[in-house]
Amino acid sequence: MLKEEQNRLLKGLISHLDANTNVDAGGIVKTPADTYTCEERFDLEWKTFFKDYPQIVGMSGDLAEPNSFVTIEDFGSSIIAARDPQGKFRAYANVCSHRGAEIEQEKKGVKSKFSCPFHGWTFNNEGDLVGYPKSDQFGKIDKDCYGLTELPSLEKYGFLWVHPNSSGEINLDELLGDKLNEEFAAWDFDKLVLSHEDEYQTDMNWKLAIDTFGETYHFSVLHKDSLFQAFHGNCQMFDSFKRNGRLILCKRDIDAMREMPEEDWKICTGTLPVYYLFPNIIFMPTPEGAFLVKEYPLEDSPHKSVSKISFYFYPEALAAAKKMGVSPETGQNPLEELYTAFGNVIRDEDYVAAASSHKGLNSGNLEFLTFGRNEPALHHYHNTYREALGLQKLPLIKS
Ligand code: FES
Ligand SMILES: [Fe+2]
Repeated sequence: MLKEEQNRLLKGLISHLDANTNVDAGGIVKTPADTYTCEERFDLEWKTFFKDYPQIVGMSGDLAEPNSFVTIEDFGSSIIAARDPQGKFRAYANVCSHRGAEIEQEKKGVKSKFSCPFHGWTFNNEGDLVGYPKSDQFGKIDKDCYGLTELPSLEKYGFLWVHPNSSGEINLDELLGDKLNEEFAAWDFDKLVLSHEDEYQTDMNWKLAIDTFGETYHFSVLHKDSLFQAFHGNCQMFDSFKRNGRLILCKRDIDAMREMPEEDWKICTGTLPVYYLFPNIIFMPTPEGAFLVKEYPLEDSPHKSVSKISFYFYPEALAAAKKMGVSPETGQNPLEELYTAFGNVIRDEDYVAAASSHKGLNSGNLEFLTFGRNEPALHHYHNTYREALGLQKLPLIKS
């Protein structure tokens, strides 16, 4: 993030702390409870956001070397995301051009060729059919017409984008806009190393998981013995960038940092930035690395979802943690303790509360959910979500 913007945000938080104020959306909004439970709405979301929208599928560090690959099953049909021998990021439908079988079953690995388990047709990671068994008996085919279906893909600022629709387009000017493009260019996310992955399946709509990251109003209650010890609750800054948003959460470390000269202030020392990358990604840079949270519906249901969380660290942080060794109490090094603590809060506190909300919303006993003046990220997310589905904006109710 640019230094000027870091200081603007830090000063904004400090002035909120001093005045005992918070970011203010100027009113409240109400969203119908069936936003989270309606099957018809869910079908529309699935088609619009998961089958036909550019997706962040991971970070550059997920594919650490040429010929590395991952398979992705989150969009209903399987996808291979791979680096070719030159290191270029590419994506393909994981569908054999012979009779449609899934070519690669492994979740991740390093290989330059994918061989279909059905009849053994083999493709390289540049998408070409390079061989098929018993070609003299099978018959002559034009191999150039039997390559894998390539999907639009893009690697930039350390993020990996794939479009699940082969005729889709990934346009970062449109998706991020000038300001967020400029901001992402100023971070070092391309250096992040994948260190740990976790996933939590929860009985809740996928958007409830996203909502839990959208405010700090709940910190002093739900997280009173965990996050609230390290964060000033109900104090944040918010900015939107096209369909995306960025919350700046206020760490208690800001109290010591503000005594230092401004040129030594660092955004990740005094705060936790939380990027909302539309439609289903939460990305949080930390001093040591970053956490990427991807939210997906499960089993074609508005009532089930999975959060896939990837933890990344910079090489210097990994080297320093290795030197420090493991703590006798936890048996983990400081970075391992960090992702264990994060997982414990998300899984055991946020998602438990969000699943409880889902149950309540699904009971039919609540007509609307209400987002307060101090929750502007949720106003922006839900209005953006509605606009993307062709629905009317939620009116701002003065309060
Ligand atoms: S379906 Fe893949 S080789 Fe036949
Ligand atoms: Fe939370």
